[in-house]
Amino acid sequence: MKKIALFASGRGSNAAQIIAHFRQHRNIEVGLVVSNKSTAGVLALARAEGIPQLTLQRQEFYHTENILAKLAQHSIDFIALAGFLWLIPEYLVRAFEGAIVNIHPALLPRYGGKGMYGHHVHQAVWRARERESGMTIHYVNEVYDEGHIIFQARCALDPKDQPEDIARKVLALEHAHYAPVIENILLNNHTQP
Ligand code: GAR
Repeated sequence: MKKIALFASGRGSNAAQIIAHFRQHRNIEVGLVVSNKSTAGVLALARAEGIPQLTLQRQEFYHTENILAKLAQHSIDFIALAGFLWLIPEYLVRAFEGAIVNIHPALLPRYGGKGMYGHHVHQAVWRARERESGMTIHYVNEVYDEGHIIFQARCALDPKDQPEDIARKVLALEHAHYAPVIENILLNNHTQP
């Protein structure tokens, strides 16, 4: 069994989709849900699903490597960030080389970087009057949104679309593609080139 840890900070709709996708899977399971916010919706979801969970403290996450032992305790092979807003520290990137992915709600390399998350991204796309947007799944390195791109999906934007419309279109793409892309990486032992 391959075990995934999901890292999420907020609402957790992508995490919910991934949990549902792997619920009955023969080879892959979500073995841990990690959040930096004790009130995150995603932790309530993990509780309801009977998945172990962990709340991070900033000091401990950045100044110790304690999380490595916790991930090992749960036999975690792979990490998927799903709306996780803290930068992944270098020791964790190194320990999970080629085994951490992130989803970003735009077509990287555009509209990425520090501070570009959630509605900030969709507002920037809207202000620039883009005719398309989309989502990107990429490997994680120690720079926000700069790891190798694995997969992108695009959606056309209508000039009448407001930021909320863009958000809705992009989120639908995320829900459709994130879990299958993770499954493909894990089943095909896809590693970072
Ligand atoms: C998703 O749209 C994800 O792409 C984005 O946060 C949202 C989380 O939604 N991530 C980023 O902006 C990272 N820079 P969710 O909590 O409902 O899955």
